[in-house]
Amino acid sequence: MSRARIVGIGAYAPKRILTNQDLEKMVDTSDEWIVQRTGIRQRHLVEDGEGPSDLAIRAAQQAMERAQVAPEEIDFIVVGTTAGDMHFPTTANLVQHRLGCRNAGSVDIYAACSGSVYSLSIGAQYIQTGKYRTVLCIGSECLSRITDFTDRGTCILLADAAGAAVLRPAADDSGIIDTDLYSDGRYGELLIMPAGGALRPATHETVDQRLHYAKMKGNEVFKVAVRMFGECAERILKNNGFTAADLDLFVPHQANLRIIEAAVKRLQVPMEKVMINVERYGNTGAASVYVALEEAWSSGRIKPNDLVLLAAFGGGFTWGAALLRW
Ligand code: ACO
Repeated sequence: MSRARIVGIGAYAPKRILTNQDLEKMVDTSDEWIVQRTGIRQRHLVEDGEGPSDLAIRAAQQAMERAQVAPEEIDFIVVGTTAGDMHFPTTANLVQHRLGCRNAGSVDIYAACSGSVYSLSIGAQYIQTGKYRTVLCIGSECLSRITDFTDRGTCILLADAAGAAVLRPAADDSGIIDTDLYSDGRYGELLIMPAGGALRPATHETVDQRLHYAKMKGNEVFKVAVRMFGECAERILKNNGFTAADLDLFVPHQANLRIIEAAVKRLQVPMEKVMINVERYGNTGAASVYVALEEAWSSGRIKPNDLVLLAAFGGGFTWGAALLRW
């Protein structure tokens, strides 16, 4: 069995920027409060008419160019997203068609903000088993579309972006060493979009009650997230015979700087080995780890043979980690 290796990575964020100062005019909040509690200073938002597939295509094109992979060479596409362009066709199917990946199967993964490590893990299994040679893994979100911009507890956090990685079998010891995925539905109510699915389809009532937006008990999410993050990061290192001291870079889900700092403290990784860009992007859900990984790579923070740990958590709850040798 060959390891799956990332042979090309890409990212894209829409041009429009919403700053904390802009939010001060929309809800009762302040730049100071947002920076202190979250570390976020600005976020990118889509324009009307743009959906997750549009962002996904830009990120995927960059990843495929860097990998020097043609659309028809892609065997499978997996897209992590919290809210796709529509219920169906899937966002992965839209991406498959618009990129011209005529030989690819495609599927969406709904694991909220863990969609990054979930999509990467699923893609990697197909390579490791030898079933496919080239897999395109994507995380793409337009979280602003399910954000209530009258709710100061969520609108300061959520944002839009996409990231993508092309996987191929590694010829050596590089590549994805291991991935772990977890979930616990007990926490579902803490972060939920109550309506719009088959259980509660859209009605005038659900719209009036603003049930098509993400609802979050932020404080409780925070506590569980810190614990999950730390535990799964520690476990994947230990199971593969490493300690935090062996890590060259930790790329966590960019939800909130305080969550990252708490998890990093528990892991005992020095902050200079942690990739952080939440201040410029906010929480971009399933895209965030890909976007941060792309920035780490393109800015020269990752070198060949580096040991890199990815970890994410999200609504559901879902969480997980991936350990890779670059
Ligand atoms: N501006 C000013 N005040 C605010 C704001 C705001 N934007 N939001 C909340 N407050 C107020 C609250 O109303 C509360 O006021 P009160 O004491 O008078 O009732 C006070 O600030 C404290 O509220 P808390 O919710 O306890 O604040 P906390 O320090 O927990 O910070 C935050 C809130 C930033 C949401 C934090 O809990 C958090 O980041 N949680 C994790 C969220 C997260 O990462 N979610 C994503 C999960 S992944 C996914 O799948 C999307």
